[in-house]
Amino acid sequence: MKKANGTGPYPTSDQAGRGSEAAPSPEPRIQRVLLVGFMGSGKTSVGSALANRLAWAFRDFDEEISFRAGLPIKEIFHQRGEGYFRDLEKLVGEELLLEEQVVLGSGGGWPVAEGRMQNLPPRTLSVWLKVSPGEAVRRAGREGETRPLLAGPDPEKLASDLLEQRVSFYSLAHVSLDTEGAEPERLAEQIEELMKATGRA
Ligand code: S3P
Repeated sequence: MKKANGTGPYPTSDQAGRGSEAAPSPEPRIQRVLLVGFMGSGKTSVGSALANRLAWAFRDFDEEISFRAGLPIKEIFHQRGEGYFRDLEKLVGEELLLEEQVVLGSGGGWPVAEGRMQNLPPRTLSVWLKVSPGEAVRRAGREGETRPLLAGPDPEKLASDLLEQRVSFYSLAHVSLDTEGAEPERLAEQIEELMKATGRA
């Protein structure tokens, strides 16, 4: 685990595991954790595991978008277009980011807008779950053809190009975690340790 942007009010990974030995933090308690990262990075599985550990709610942006549109994500793209999806995603993001004691899993494209990652509500811890294009495609593929942006003859090339365009946005998260070879439960535990180090628990 490493600190991603050097400017946030959160501890470095070195501090994360120290639990009660960590210096008391002047920061107010974290009220929400926002997971960002590419498709297949594990936002839903890690987010659900973390929410269980904290006894908080888990809210998935895509699930809410799908519910509001009355269509699966793939169908929203096909029937209404990406622009419609992005408008709904913006609205849902604004609303879910008002909730407290919540773990949020954004869609992979949500952070990709000027100012979004920089203007999160106070007491939000943002976490970038990192994944390689190859692993993203493998994991997404196991869920069937649910990702319209990876549909094409060479999904790994699509993933690689898209990830390259997005890295500068994801890297604005307060912390980043490598997900490859790590169980969701272990990643959730690491995030919880970080929160404890900041005085959340
Ligand atoms: C998208 C990611 C998807 C979903 C939509 C667009 C993206 O969510 O929001 O297919 O632009 O990266 P996941 O990141 O949960 O797969």
